Amino acid sequence: MSLHPGLAAVAGLIGAWRGEGAGQYPTIESFRYTEELTFTDVGKPVLHYMQRTWSPAGAPMHTETGYLRVAGGTALEFVLAQPTGQTELAEGLLVATEDGFACTLESRMVNSGSAKQVDATERRLELAGDVLTTHFAMAAVGVPLTHHLASTLHRHAAAIR
Ligand code: HEM
Repeated sequence: MSLHPGLAAVAGLIGAWRGEGAGQYPTIESFRYTEELTFTDVGKPVLHYMQRTWSPAGAPMHTETGYLRVAGGTALEFVLAQPTGQTELAEGLLVATEDGFACTLESRMVNSGSAKQVDATERRLELAGDVLTTHFAMAAVGVPLTHHLASTLHRHAAAIR
């Protein structure tokens, strides 16, 4: 199956990524985590995305899934489902770099009735060869847009767990 030409700008994401991250927020204790992502080609101008995280002791932490759509070659639309009761639509323009790209995506959120209130998120993805860096900020539980997560991931031959 050949890659849809619309995916050219993000083709470097396809595959599995694994690495370490750190989280914080004004209302919680800081923490560290291990993260694994997969971006999978489904034969359309969209990649399927799956994220899982674990505590340093190996306990499951946050997971999320969705689709990364590419419009017009450089406009990224990240359509995400959160197990914490949010749906997140994050959009941004990709800037190509020598060995990858950088993109800041700003979101609109919908919260379920029992979910903690998340009003907006901002995600930064930086791909540089075999290294993927992520940053995540959110406006949530009455706190204005504030850093929550950062991780550095390395290309991995296959999903581990
Ligand atoms: C790598 C992914 C993530 C990890 C490891 C992570 C971890 C954590 C941890 C350990 C807490 C504190 C305990 C808790 O309330 O459950 C927390 C709180 C929270 N997280 Fe995350 N999180 C992640 C992603 C996200 C995402 C994507 C969102 C929003 C879409 C989010 C929204 C929140 C909210 C709203 C809180 C509650 C803050 C409060 O009640 O004061 N998190 N997160």
